[in-house]
Amino acid sequence: MKKLIVSLFMVMMPTLALAAAPSGPLDSMRSDHANKPSLQRGAALFMNYCLGCHSLEYARYQRIADDLEIPADLFEENLIFTGARIGELIEIGMDKRQAASWFGAPPPDLTLVSRLRGDSWVYSYLRAFYKDDSRPFGVNNAVFENVGMPHVLVELQGLCASKPTVGVKPSVEPLSGVVRNAEPCSEWAIEGSMTPAEFDRAMYDLSNFLSYMGDPVKLQRERLGIFVLIFIAIFFVFAYLLNREYWKDVH
Ligand code: HEC
Repeated sequence: MKKLIVSLFMVMMPTLALAAAPSGPLDSMRSDHANKPSLQRGAALFMNYCLGCHSLEYARYQRIADDLEIPADLFEENLIFTGARIGELIEIGMDKRQAASWFGAPPPDLTLVSRLRGDSWVYSYLRAFYKDDSRPFGVNNAVFENVGMPHVLVELQGLCASKPTVGVKPSVEPLSGVVRNAEPCSEWAIEGSMTPAEFDRAMYDLSNFLSYMGDPVKLQRERLGIFVLIFIAIFFVFAYLLNREYWKDVH
């Protein structure tokens, strides 16, 4: 009986989902797939700024419209720029071999990137571009060194003049009261249309959307999980009583 209880307890322990080990310190972000407005804004950013190079070829537009509660006609009018129908997979026309010669590496499909790299990695990466004239596009990335991707959000974020800090919390010097590392970027080479706080929020939305993309059934799974546990708990009582009944006369 003790063994049964122990094994049941172990079955109920939540399993830890471990993403691929990050390369260095990261700015952490917690995805929230129930936050539909955030996911909608993230989807809009993705369709506007990323779909030119990156596909989401394991997902369909229709599924995103349904999950994010965007009416199909609005979605088709405002978020599909490739001429695709809403029932189709989110593919792009870019030739992989040609893209590799333009960028050094082809832009990978991003359906599962949050599963591969982790949410915090994606969030940090998108905010970590900086000016580096030795690179072909004049930019480098503090999270992904010598990345082939240009800084496509430069009009929103601007361009940091030197390598920004990543994963460093602001600290106050006790004697002088000077705040260190308040902002990841100390000097801007190009000003963007958003403030750093606004850009962080936008990148939270975009990373949140990519997190949803990698695990679109997370909410349903967690909701169903509760019912499964309740069922197991109730079933345990009957299984235990039955077991006692069977073994009553055996000595
Ligand atoms: C002009 C084309 C282009 C656009 C637009 C673009 N990317 Fe990229 N992206 C690339 C290329 C090329 C790479 C591969 C870089 C490498 O491996 O060196 C890449 C790599 C990435 C990676 C890293 C993938 C990995 O695991 O290696 C992420 C994440 C990413 N892009 C996200 C985005 C997001 C989000 C957007 C929209 C804001 C975007 N990209 C827009 C070209 C682009």
